[in-house]
Amino acid sequence: MRPKDLQYPFKDTPKRIMLDKQVWYAMGEEGEFQFPGWDRLFIASQPVKIEYCSGNGLWLAERAQNEPNANWVGLELKFDRIKKIWSKIENRQLKNLLAVWGEGFDVTKRYIPDNSVSEVYVNFPDPWPKRRHAKYRIIQPLFAEQIHRILQPEGTVSLVTDDVDYSKQMVRVMTKQPGFASCYPEPYFVTEYPGYGTVSYFEDLWRSQGKGIRYHLFKKVL
Ligand SMILES: C[S@@+](CC[C@H](N)C(=O)[O-])C[C@H]1O[C@@H](n2cnc3c(N)ncnc32)[C@H](O)[C@@H]1O
Repeated sequence: MRPKDLQYPFKDTPKRIMLDKQVWYAMGEEGEFQFPGWDRLFIASQPVKIEYCSGNGLWLAERAQNEPNANWVGLELKFDRIKKIWSKIENRQLKNLLAVWGEGFDVTKRYIPDNSVSEVYVNFPDPWPKRRHAKYRIIQPLFAEQIHRILQPEGTVSLVTDDVDYSKQMVRVMTKQPGFASCYPEPYFVTEYPGYGTVSYFEDLWRSQGKGIRYHLFKKVL
């Protein structure tokens, strides 16, 4: 299957929230849609791990393939990239991976149940480097609050970036959010993380340009 084989389902109908072929279209009007619960979305009942800002799903599909004992969810804003994740789901027969077309904070706040997720990942979120654009970054206090809400006790959040200013914001936001503790001592990140997963498209790009990568890891402790 190629990404273009996933047809946009709303050509002649209004956009509405729906689930089809391991894609959750969470971008439209809510209508009568109700979140069915993770167990209904996957064939096996097992820990749920979410990656926000999944891009083309390179890292995500590899992790889902290598960890069949978890149910993986990839949240992505751009439909073209959802198509790329979907083609990986189809071609590799990844029954434990769901692609979600939607905005990360919005989908989380509206649908994701409390204490229902074991791990959260955000790899190379858009850095919005201009100061006046920093408000568009996904790692914000309200997002951290939601992540804390959906994580199970001892659940973890991994945040990865090449952007020094964004790394500082990640540390600031996460250390201020009650109930999280950094798994790394000050400065609260490491620059190598063997076994983290295959390099994502952006990790590859930034490393080839000689940029340092910062991995932050926080645990829900309260
Ligand atoms: C720099 S790319 C990184 C993609 C991937 N994680 C990687 O490492 O290759 C950031 C991605 O986040 C998506 N994105 C940005 N803001 C988002 C949001 N609020 N919710 C979901 N996805 C978002 C963008 O569409 C883009 O695909």
